[in-house]
Amino acid sequence: MSITISGLTKRFAKTDVLRGVELGVDKGELVALLGPSGSGKTTLLKIIAGLEWPDTGRLTVDGQDWLQLAAQDRRIGFVFQHYALFPHMKVRDNLAFGLSVRPRAERPGKAVIAAKVDELLHFLQIDHLADRYPAQLSGGQRQRVALGRALAIEPKVLLLDEPFGALDAAIRRDLRRWLRGVHEATGSTTIFVTHDQEEAFELADRVVVMGEGQIAQIGDADTIHDHPATPFVARFMGATVELPVTLLAGRAEGAGLDLSTLPRRALPDGAGRLFVRAEDITPVPEADAPWRIVSRTSTGAHLRLVLRHPELGEAEAEVPRRTVRAEALTPDAAVRLKIETGTIFPTDRRMQAASASQLPLTPQKEKTR
Ligand SMILES: Nc1ncnc2c1ncn2[C@@H]1O[C@H](COP(=O)(O)OP(=O)(O)O)[C@@H](O)[C@H]1O
Ligand SMILES: [Mg+2]
Repeated sequence: MSITISGLTKRFAKTDVLRGVELGVDKGELVALLGPSGSGKTTLLKIIAGLEWPDTGRLTVDGQDWLQLAAQDRRIGFVFQHYALFPHMKVRDNLAFGLSVRPRAERPGKAVIAAKVDELLHFLQIDHLADRYPAQLSGGQRQRVALGRALAIEPKVLLLDEPFGALDAAIRRDLRRWLRGVHEATGSTTIFVTHDQEEAFELADRVVVMGEGQIAQIGDADTIHDHPATPFVARFMGATVELPVTLLAGRAEGAGLDLSTLPRRALPDGAGRLFVRAEDITPVPEADAPWRIVSRTSTGAHLRLVLRHPELGEAEAEVPRRTVRAEALTPDAAVRLKIETGTIFPTDRRMQAASASQLPLTPQKEKTR
């Protein structure tokens, strides 16, 4: 089933939770919806599931208008972070539930349901759990069963809302691989919500970055990491150091910055803002440079340096401890900041509107599109 969402808006009380969402998901695709808490991910999933209705916009699945359909007519498989399996039912009965409550005309016979459950148990590699109750399962096992329950009804669309969010990192990695395998075998059209970048990039065909009720960027890991489309995406992807620069003929300059490694960019002349990761800043000692090292801590592998500029304030750099001349990077040393890579957005508001890569003057006022 292919999903097409356009112009979707949703407001709760005074909050615009969705502000014009446009998204297409192809048949058989696994898309990860990645965004910080509060960005509207769950609301979007609930609208697709029919548990919530939008104020405006369209939702069609294989051309059919789903906003005309009640939740029970959509054949959705939904797995939440804390999925409530029926505690008084064994795993096999939990899996059978969705089929056994179908209207009589569509309900498979008992033997067919039992065979289907066996098949699913085997497919999901949870045969050994068949006769346990949910309380006798680990968190990871419970989520496998929850996915099994969602898959049992052969859903048209599978929606997973941070399904592994409550589990340990190691178990999450296992489940990720397992889920990817399940997806490849079933080919169901799947939307996977997460706020974990690694999870999103490892699992999905395409990652959809959401911020403040809008889709900020769609792409693969490398594109989103190296070429964030907006300041919001840059920050979300870890480029948390922001420095003012001046653009002239596609070249940037900034106070105490060495920007010579940045490629020339098609950006208008004038003020810009550079977004860079701490690990992409190399402080280079230089007697009359305007930045000073304020503090230095070691994580063993890395040195974290806090730097201060008399007008611009503080920035952070992270350098590999063993490969730098660490003895020169001590508090009070004057340094120039060599920027290995980063993204620049113009600050001129008119240019922002024109290029759609806007930049607010303060993070709080940011609009993601
Ligand atoms: N039923 C509701 N009533 C009022 N506000 C809501 C409701 N559901 C969600 N919100 C608000 O909508 C925003 C987005 O929520 P949500 O979709 O859960 O985001 P996410 O899943 O990305 O964390 C939040 O600010 C949340 O407080
Ligand atoms: Mg959520």
